[in-house]
Amino acid sequence: MATAFESAAPATPGGRVFPPGFLWGTATAAYQIEGAAAEDGRTPSIWDTYSRTPGKVHNGDTGDVATDHYHRWREDIAIMADLGVGAYRFSLSWPRLQAGGRGSATGAGLDFYRRLADALLEKGITPVATLYHWDLPQELEDAGGWPERETAARFADYATLAARALGDRVGTWITLNEPWCSAFLGYGSGVHAPGRTDPVDALRAAHHLNLGHGLATQALRAELPAGSQVSVTLNFHHTRPLTESPADHDAARRIDGLANRLFTGPLLHGSYPADTLADTASLTDWSFVRDGDTAAIHQPLDFLGVNYYTPTLVSASRTAAPQGADGHRPSTHSAWPGAEDVAFHRAPGPTTAMGWAVDPSGLYDLLLRLRQELPGLPLMITENGAAFDDYAGPDGAVHDPDRIAYLHGHLAAVHAAVEAGADIRGYFLWSLLDNFEWGYGYSKRFGAVHVDYPTGRRTPKSSAQWYARIARTGTLPP
Ligand code: NOJ
Repeated sequence: MATAFESAAPATPGGRVFPPGFLWGTATAAYQIEGAAAEDGRTPSIWDTYSRTPGKVHNGDTGDVATDHYHRWREDIAIMADLGVGAYRFSLSWPRLQAGGRGSATGAGLDFYRRLADALLEKGITPVATLYHWDLPQELEDAGGWPERETAARFADYATLAARALGDRVGTWITLNEPWCSAFLGYGSGVHAPGRTDPVDALRAAHHLNLGHGLATQALRAELPAGSQVSVTLNFHHTRPLTESPADHDAARRIDGLANRLFTGPLLHGSYPADTLADTASLTDWSFVRDGDTAAIHQPLDFLGVNYYTPTLVSASRTAAPQGADGHRPSTHSAWPGAEDVAFHRAPGPTTAMGWAVDPSGLYDLLLRLRQELPGLPLMITENGAAFDDYAGPDGAVHDPDRIAYLHGHLAAVHAAVEAGADIRGYFLWSLLDNFEWGYGYSKRFGAVHVDYPTGRRTPKSSAQWYARIARTGTLPP
């Protein structure tokens, strides 16, 4: 049966053809879309608390209603089916599935995700579940949060519960989404929940997130049927020095260490990077890393989830970095323990509504670096996309040529990386819907589908129709 997006012609001659089986998907996260914050036994997460704290989120926005996906999920799956995507990456809300982050599962929460997964499978869409996309149960934060070791154990327990409940229908699992943000924005600069600003807590949080990943991966493997896939999603900062000076190169090395290698080191190579431990030695001796931790963290993965939006341009500087120029909301506290003197720069050229430079070469370079550093580990682009100031015109349509141009450039980069030998299995557009963009509230729109917040009305943007054609043909037009 023809669907709303099928009128497009078949694969464009001269387009770039992706490998057979390449997965085309869209992505979301629970707190950003679900709403229903106090329904069916869900307890508050750190984002409920943070967004209610005056001055933390733009306009005082919260995820109380968001896109109301908790009630409109059938419509959202129908949109995905119309788009012809083969996979959907969503996150499980920890406090919806396990109230307070301890004890048994909440029945209504389980039912919601079971129904969601079943409906996706019915439409031939592969469910990809992220266990943790930043919504820590508030009770666990009250008990110390990610800087405390116990949180890693709680996370593994939640992974067991989720896998037992959903493992029969969800075959692809991602433990953490962007642990750098959880650690360094949540506990360092404080521009994310829970909004704490202690550099040592940020480093402790990074380790306990890594440990949580390792323990959760073991828990998932113990529960999931054979053939299930387990992974983690990292937000690589593809870091470039502003000049060729040794000082700028060293600044890039330090940021690469804190943002990337602090995670890839233990997760994928079995040890923390010695230079980053040395860079942070005046803050901590890292004695919270206990014997056996790095072995527990270093678990075999089926693929690596890669999120990419923009490259990071840095220089060594004694002057303060322009506030917010590292791509995050301005803060008087640093997200970069031991590298507070590094200055972040905006690359020349076009930017998105986030002020992030549009530079697909960063994605290409990153994918080739990962191919070289991690031979044999398949890669999945678990997020890529852009915010622009989209609005519905008088005809009700939402035209977003800037997003199409952004996606085109980045998909061309992915294709070029595949041609150069990178083993890339799929691409998930962030995001299916406009949604709650964390500290920016609803002021930034990343969706391929426009959401009119007062009514909840969904309107696929022109980029959705453009992406649908790629998902259906596996070919990027010239
Ligand atoms: C990465 C995060 O995973 C997602 O939640 C966020 O909305 C996008 N980046 C855009 O900032």
